[in-house]
Amino acid sequence: MTNTSETPAPSTPSGSRMRTVRFESFGDPSVLAVAEVPTPEPGPGQITVDVRYAGVNFAEVMFRRGQFPVDLPHFPGLEAVGTVRAVGEGVTGLEPGQRVAALTLGGGGNAEVVAVGAEHTVRLDGDLAGLDGALAAGALCNVTTALGVLTSAGHLAQGETVVVLAAAGGVGTAAAQLARTLGASTVIGVTSSPAKAEYARGYGYDSVVSYDEIEREVAERTGGAGADLVLDSVGGAFRSSVTGLLAAFGRHVVFGNAAAEDVTFEGNHPWYTNSSLAGYNLGGVAGRAPHLLRAHLEQALAEVARGTVRVDVKVLPLKDVAHAHELLETRASTGKYVLDVRA
Ligand SMILES: NC(=O)c1ccc[n+]([C@@H]2O[C@H](COP(=O)([O-])OP(=O)(O)OC[C@H]3O[C@@H](n4cnc5c(N)ncnc54)[C@H](OP(=O)(O)O)[C@@H]3O)[C@@H](O)[C@H]2O)c1
Repeated sequence: MTNTSETPAPSTPSGSRMRTVRFESFGDPSVLAVAEVPTPEPGPGQITVDVRYAGVNFAEVMFRRGQFPVDLPHFPGLEAVGTVRAVGEGVTGLEPGQRVAALTLGGGGNAEVVAVGAEHTVRLDGDLAGLDGALAAGALCNVTTALGVLTSAGHLAQGETVVVLAAAGGVGTAAAQLARTLGASTVIGVTSSPAKAEYARGYGYDSVVSYDEIEREVAERTGGAGADLVLDSVGGAFRSSVTGLLAAFGRHVVFGNAAAEDVTFEGNHPWYTNSSLAGYNLGGVAGRAPHLLRAHLEQALAEVARGTVRVDVKVLPLKDVAHAHELLETRASTGKYVLDVRA
């Protein structure tokens, strides 16, 4: 999830320092530390943001455990909300002091100050002026991704049946609500415990069941026809069974691998099964379709500001970042964890 415009900015000549989350080796959550480092300055095309709220994403768990290649030391944090601190060369439309929400796809968002490409920064003014900062931080990656997987990757059409794996999570709860808004007739969630299923039911699913029950649930709800779209961020052995849930010409969208274990599909698989395998990667969209990413980012924030998508945010102090990772990694989390960088 790297983007060249968001590579770490040079340190400030003034010598000021800031707190940031950092890890210097891959491993369990204990490798995460809050460190003091030089405050970044914006490079060309960048701004720096005085961060108030920074979201924690499952992707950062994968980075931390070395599942997804990142350089060391790594400064985690893919999203941040705060005020513009300084504006780099060539940036227009952003000024110091403005409230902003930014996708910090090069990392570094879990910090007091982050340098970020202006193209992934949205001003929290106009219709977004009333948007709570913690909610905005909770929406940046998850709601944008949910929109992208349902529309650009999944091509959701009116009246279709959607299955969302990891239904109680950050992306899952957003995807359920958006699927409904986008015209899905049936939205079925899958999660790993009755407590998480109960929680997820508050986010617009027609039903939420366990991974063992989903095959029967889809068959019952679709009269045996199957689901049109399955959103799969889970991977592992379950991924092999997804084709069996699909209707003819159904789409299996792969956008994560929480199980840290992949499966192999043969090239003939879509042919034999009348199915499509699609993928979504936020960093890839940033690089190859930046205008689309920007549109989804703005729409995501607008949906949350309007209340059409609810994000359940739990705010923790920066020093508790390891706890947030632990909850995500042990499947004990629901909704979204956001760090209050000043707490
Ligand atoms: N491709 C992209 O650009 C992109 C962008 C954002 C997020 N994502 C992916 O989307 C998923 C959701 O992200 P999120 O931040 O909102 O996380 P999340 O859904 O809040 O948490 C991850 C969930 O994955 C499920 N899971 C299944 N097997 C697991 C395992 N072996 N270990 C841990 N969790 C497991 C758990 O839900 P159950 O216990 O209910 O199964 C867990 O709660 C993640 O996999 C993430 O990597 C991808």
